[in-house]
Amino acid sequence: MTAPLIDPFARPISYLRVSVTDRCDFRCVYCMAENMTFLPKKELLTLEELDRMCTAFIGLGVRKLRITGGEPLVRRDILTFFQAISRHLDSGALDELTLTTNGSQLERHAADLAACGIKRINVSLDTLDEDKFARVTRWGRLPQVLRGIDAAQKAGLRIKINTVALKGFNEDELFALVDWCAARDMDLTFIEVMPMGDLGGEDRIGQYWSLDDVRAQLATRSPLTDLAERTGGPARYVRMEQTGQKIGFITPLTHNFCESCNRVRLTCTGELYMCLGQEDWADLRKPLRNHPKDDAPLRAAIRAAIARKPKGHDFDYSRQQVAGQMTRHMSHTGG
Ligand code: GTP
Ligand code: 5AD
Ligand code: SF4
Repeated sequence: MTAPLIDPFARPISYLRVSVTDRCDFRCVYCMAENMTFLPKKELLTLEELDRMCTAFIGLGVRKLRITGGEPLVRRDILTFFQAISRHLDSGALDELTLTTNGSQLERHAADLAACGIKRINVSLDTLDEDKFARVTRWGRLPQVLRGIDAAQKAGLRIKINTVALKGFNEDELFALVDWCAARDMDLTFIEVMPMGDLGGEDRIGQYWSLDDVRAQLATRSPLTDLAERTGGPARYVRMEQTGQKIGFITPLTHNFCESCNRVRLTCTGELYMCLGQEDWADLRKPLRNHPKDDAPLRAAIRAAIARKPKGHDFDYSRQQVAGQMTRHMSHTGG
């Protein structure tokens, strides 16, 4: 029996997020700068190498795999990766295989994703207004994403919408988003904006809309019941009694959830980030490539990295200035 991955704060690590590309067809203002320099393609791990990495983590007790980016569905041949890695669902080694996507490529991939045993996906959507959508993503087209969401629902995928709460941007759409999700039987999770990436003049504190405030506004509409259930991710959920729908809150600023952290992040170049909000990372590409036929050095490197996992992030805006700012963009580690 292999010993499970346990970090220095006694947290079992069972959730691996894998960013398969740093590229994206959008440039959300809180995630990327307008002019990003992307990694040359030759720097990326191949899909076979990513598969070997994931398989090593699964062998060490990871039960949930979330594929992220950038936008994971812009990576060429990514469906072959999903098809291959889904063998771990079939064998029972993995409880969940899923992805977080901007929805732009869902229309053509939804049915194939469902065929890989994916049951639910998270789709990022901050507004239902076409002009505002084009502004927040810098040039994304909302109808394309809505067609993707429809296709995913038709394919039987359950959808959770991720909405970054942005002051002065989507405050006026709170109930429109809630109603839109309820009408389509989709869950909705709000996220507090985190200080990731040097975005050249983005006003984090000006953008920041606390989810305590969002919750208070929702409570004016309907009684809210706290739910004990979790999805293995950072969100805490309530049920809106009026409609029965589930609303999630990801609150790195107002209610730090690091004490129950169960996850680490692998980038498309084989860097393992032990915390979203810290700069430390471990090189897993070296043990992978130096030992093409032997996973023991890779497994040892993973264990050594987990032994360095920090307690949590230092994000804080409460003193009217940004603390814990990361220079790395969110798209580097996939959120
Ligand atoms: P579920 O499986 O549905 O619970 O998904 P998830 O919340 O784990 O994943 P998703 O990719 O939808 O991420 C939603 C938001 O949570 C993104 O903004 C992530 O950056 C953020 N997030 C995920 N994990 C962490 C974490 O460990 N720390 C912080 N601060 N944010 C996180
Ligand atoms: N703060 C909070 N959430 C962010 N995301 C991207 N950048 C940020 C940020 N700075 C979200 C996206 C997506 C998820 C993976 O991360 O909207 O839903
Ligand atoms: Fe792309 Fe997602 Fe970042 Fe937007 S938040 S730029 S969709 S990776």
